Amino acid sequence: MEKILIIGSAGQIGSEFTLLLREIYGGDNVIAGIRKTRPSEKIANTGPVEVVDALNVEELVDTIKKYNVDIIINMAAILSATGEKNPNLAWNVNMNGLINVLEIAREFKMKQVLVPSSIAVFGPSTPVDNTPQETILKPTTMYGITKVSGELLGDYYVQKYGLDVRGLRYPGIISHETLPGGGTTDYAVAIYYEAVKNKKYTCFVNEDTRLPMMYMPDCLKATIDLMQADFSKLKHHCDFNVGAMSFSAKELADSVKKYIPEFEMTYQPDERQAIADSWPNSVDDTPAREQWGWKPDYDLDAMTQDMLKAIREKHEKGLI
Ligand code: SER
Repeated sequence: MEKILIIGSAGQIGSEFTLLLREIYGGDNVIAGIRKTRPSEKIANTGPVEVVDALNVEELVDTIKKYNVDIIINMAAILSATGEKNPNLAWNVNMNGLINVLEIAREFKMKQVLVPSSIAVFGPSTPVDNTPQETILKPTTMYGITKVSGELLGDYYVQKYGLDVRGLRYPGIISHETLPGGGTTDYAVAIYYEAVKNKKYTCFVNEDTRLPMMYMPDCLKATIDLMQADFSKLKHHCDFNVGAMSFSAKELADSVKKYIPEFEMTYQPDERQAIADSWPNSVDDTPAREQWGWKPDYDLDAMTQDMLKAIREKHEKGLI
């Protein structure tokens, strides 16, 4: 069985993906890489945990040797809003972390590297509706710049060194296990928590803001399906568009109101509005569907019902 190192195991996606990988590959075969944030109890109790900062080559190499790692998944990143506050940090973590991972994977002849990308690779000059796979990539955020560069770098390692590198452009990811941090799409998670706790939410983008989004179960499915796809069938490698749903902030509020009628949303756009405005409304993911069978399960209403159920349970237990 392969040994997998997942860097960023305490993050929004990493925390849930680590547990899914452990179910599939066995707890001992999936090493949870964390930095400062403590791992969840579930992660701490189901397999090995190591301190691994992608910027620290020694830490990376020690962990890879200790466990004979075959696959690295790099979920560590500085997201869009934090990246605009500290562009230098975003470049450093997202690019230098990535090149460390790719170089080590090449040197140790790893079986696979998975590096997520994002809808942040698109910019104001990209077509906004049903954004094609192949299109203009001129982002205006540092996060987006690092994600375009990361896609190109990953593809370079595929063609130059024959390394198996894969990646997909996540839309905004909505989940209820671990909170996202520092992203522009975070309002689509915060709304559910605030609706359950306070029946109101002040949204930091305006009501017409429409973005591509995806519920966590679909995000996990997309990621594992891409990992397990037949490499010889992939024509793209590090830049797959993956769509699931697309809604405006008002449509999101309306969907919450169906289940919490007294819910009120007000709008106070801040600096994240400009970031949201530079991203598409929806994406065309035909290559992902054709090359590895991508198909989402959740629409907005199904997600809202599931999110509210999970967050109500947390609230009743006094966890939030
Ligand atoms: N969720 C990310 C962000 O908002 C997009 O990939 O920064």
